[in-house]
Formats: sequence, C-alpha cells, structure tokens
Amino acid sequence: MNSNFHLPLCCPVCAEPLQQDKRTFRCSSNHCFDTAKEGYLNLLLSHQRRSADPGDGKMMIQARRRFFESGAYNPLIGLIHQNTSFGTILDAGCGEGALSGNLPGTVIGMDISKEAVRAAAKRYKPATWIVANTMRPLPFADQSFDTILSVLAPRNIDEFARILKSDGQLLIGVPGPNHLIELRSQLNIGTAGFEEKADEAAGKCAPQFKETDRTPLTYQMQLNRQQINDLIQMTPIFWNSGPEAKEHIGQLNELNITVSFVLLTLRQSDPGQTGL
Ligand SMILES: C[S@@+](CC[C@H](N)C(=O)[O-])C[C@H]1O[C@@H](n2cnc3c(N)ncnc32)[C@H](O)[C@@H]1O
Ligand SMILES: [Zn+2]
Repeated sequence: MNSNFHLPLCCPVCAEPLQQDKRTFRCSSNHCFDTAKEGYLNLLLSHQRRSADPGDGKMMIQARRRFFESGAYNPLIGLIHQNTSFGTILDAGCGEGALSGNLPGTVIGMDISKEAVRAAAKRYKPATWIVANTMRPLPFADQSFDTILSVLAPRNIDEFARILKSDGQLLIGVPGPNHLIELRSQLNIGTAGFEEKADEAAGKCAPQFKETDRTPLTYQMQLNRQQINDLIQMTPIFWNSGPEAKEHIGQLNELNITVSFVLLTLRQSDPGQTGL
C-alpha cells in the first residue's frame, strides 16, 4: 500500500473521502477500513456482492499468474505500457495485477476477487490494491484518474466518466478477431462475434466517451504443455467444452496459437460534464 501520495479513495458507505492513518482508512463519519496484512484494502460491502467469494477463484488466479510469468502476454503488457503515461491510473478488474503492477505513476488496481487482489498486493508492492465491484458506485473521488484501464473485464461507463479527469483516457482491451482461434476451434467453441467486439465496446461507451484510437495486436506463439493447461484453466469459456477434446489438448506438448487483442483509447465526449 502506497502511503506517500494522497489516494483518491472514498468511503463505500457514505462516499466521503477516506483519510489514511497508517494501516487504517477512515471517513469523517468514522467508517473505517483496515489494510489486510498482504497490503490490500477491502472496500467491498457485503450487499455489493452476489456470492460470498465473487470473481475469479484461486486456481484461476494461479493459472493466470503462471501464464503471465511465462511471457506469453508480454506484447500486451508492452502495448499497455506504451499507451499509459504517468499520473494516476486505475486498473478496473485488475486480476492478479500483471498488466498494471509495474506501470510508472500512482497505480490503483481494483477487482471483485479477493484472491486476485491479494495476489496482486503480494507481488506488486508500490501500487494500491482494492477489493471493490466495478458495477457498483466506485469508491473513488470525482475526476481523479488520468487513465482508467479495463482489459477483458466488466465496465461501468457512468462511473468511469465520473472518476476520470476531463482530459483523461479510458483504455479498453478486448479480444481481437482471431484470439485463440486454434484452441476455440479444437474445443468446438464458436468464433463468431469476435470481429465486432471492439466496435461493440466502443458503442457501449457512447455517449459519454468517443473513440480516439484503436490499436490491434496480433501474434502467433507456440505454447508448451503448462501454458496450454493454464490458458484453459484461466478461461471460463473453455471449462465445460468438449471434455474429450479438452483432455486431448491438455496432453499436447505444444500448440501454435494466435493471440489477438484490440486496445481502444477513448476520451470524454463532453469533458465539461462529470458523470451523470
Ligand atoms: C479475464 S480477467 C482479466 C484480468 C486482468 N484485467 C487481465 O487482463 O489480466 C477478469 C477479471 O475481472 C474481475 N471481475 C469480474 N467481475 C467484476 C466486477 N464486477 N468488479 C470488479 N472485477 C470484476 C474478475 O475477478 C477477474 O479478475
Ligand atoms: Zn463513510
């Protein structure tokens, strides 16, 4: 937990600013939240979640961490670094933190999964890691972020518009047309609709945001057996698909796959309006 900067955190109960006193964050109405021993802050109230343990579970987080550590998504991390300037950055739906944990600037990563946030906090110490639900009012002050990053995660456009500075950018990462197409076709999972994901995402951000840039990233890579199994485990859509095909793929020593993402940059259409 970074205590050198004033963090734009708000109380999830009453929305007043939270002040930090060592490991405790407190609002003027005396609602208080303690930093966990791993260094993250849980601002998810019990009525803001649908299950006791929402979001990605431990096995998925571990698979995702191994997959990132293998370097398979390094080009995606590189693209995000290229597009993120210094300043205050929110990674909404940050997972285990690999995409934003090493960004320069003041990084706040947020996820509904406590396991994900715990893993991020243990690994990437300088950033601030928070358990919260993107789809609820966000525990952040108005106009406090220069960049909001949302990669393969749910988006709350009204709240993003409220907490982004008027000249800030929203970066959205979605799968590109042929993302994991080899794995999808072997597991009999439809590949339709991937062409339109970027247009769809940009459309859903209107009218608050307009797209200013779009960067496709596509590359081929050869996965080893561990990477194949981690990829299947970290991708829920693969779980229940063709058990036999899945078992067969899981035994392969290598598999060539296409990785394809699209990174959208969006800016506020009417920077004078903060939220709705
Ligand atoms: C596919 S993972 C992507 C993680 C990370 N952005 C990355 O690309 O490595 C989706 C993440 O969104 C989180 N998530 C799902 N619903 C959420 C919500 N309502 N609020 C916050 N995070 C959520 C999951 O727990 C998971 O960590
Ligand atoms: Zn409060």
